[in-house]
Amino acid sequence: MLTPKEKQKIVDSVPYWWHSIDFGDGVFSEGRQRRGTVLWDQFDIPIRNIKNKRVLDIGAWDGKFSFLCEQAGAETVLAVDVCQGGSSSNGFHVAKKILNSKVFHMDEDFLNLKPSEVGKFDLIIFAGVLYHLENPLGGFRALKELLSNTGLIVIETTTLPDEIKEPYIKFHLKDALNKDPTNFWTPSPSCVEQMLIEAGLVSTLHKRRTHYKGRSIFHAVHGEQ
Ligand SMILES: C[S@@+](CC[C@H](N)C(=O)[O-])C[C@H]1O[C@@H](n2cnc3c(N)ncnc32)[C@H](O)[C@@H]1O
Repeated sequence: MLTPKEKQKIVDSVPYWWHSIDFGDGVFSEGRQRRGTVLWDQFDIPIRNIKNKRVLDIGAWDGKFSFLCEQAGAETVLAVDVCQGGSSSNGFHVAKKILNSKVFHMDEDFLNLKPSEVGKFDLIIFAGVLYHLENPLGGFRALKELLSNTGLIVIETTTLPDEIKEPYIKFHLKDALNKDPTNFWTPSPSCVEQMLIEAGLVSTLHKRRTHYKGRSIFHAVHGEQ
C-alpha cells in the first residue's frame, strides 16, 4: 500500500499530464484539463449505460474517462489511443497502476479496430477526436460498426456557432486550430448530425459545453435499420 507521499512522487514522475486524475488521499495529477468531473458530468451518461456494460474510450490519453467508467461499474473498459507526439500513454499506465485498475489499453488507431476481434460496445466515448480525423464521416462509419445494437456514443468536439444552421465544416490549415497541426475540422452542429445520419446513426442530444462555448457534446445511437 502506497503512502500519499509515495503516490505523489510516482504521479510527479510523469512529465506531462493531460487529465487531472484524483488518486485519493489528496493526490492529483496536475493535468491541462481542470480537476473535478465537470466534463464527465456534462456527458450526461445514464448510469444504466455503464453498469455491467462494455465501454470503449477512444483517444483515452491519460484515461480519466476510462477509469471513471470502471469506477461507475462498467464490466470491461477498453482505452484506445494512437499515443503519438505529445499524447504519451505514460500517464495512463501510471494511473492504472495506482488505481489498481483493470482497464485494458491498446496503442492503436481506432479505425483499425475490428468488431470481430474486440467485440461491440454498449458505450463509446469519442471525446476530442473527431477533428483529428482526415475523414470524419469515415470515423462515424467506424463507430457505427463498433456500437452494440442498443449502444450509445458520446461525442465531444469543436463546433461552429449554433446560429450556423447549414451543415458546414470549417477546415483548419496546418496548426490554425489551437496551434495543433493534427486539428483539421470544426463542423456546425447540423453537420455533425447529418454526418451521423449518413453513417447510419442518429443524434439524440446536442448541447454546448459550459466554459467552452466553441465545443459541444452529442449523443448518438443507431438510426433506423
Ligand atoms: C484532444 S485529445 C482528447 C483526450 C481525451 N479524450 C479528452 O477528451 O480529454 C485527443 C486524443 O485522441 C487521440 N487520437 C486522435 N486520433 C486518434 C485515432 N484515430 N485513434 C485513436 N486515438 C486517436 C490523440 O492521440 C489524443 O490522445
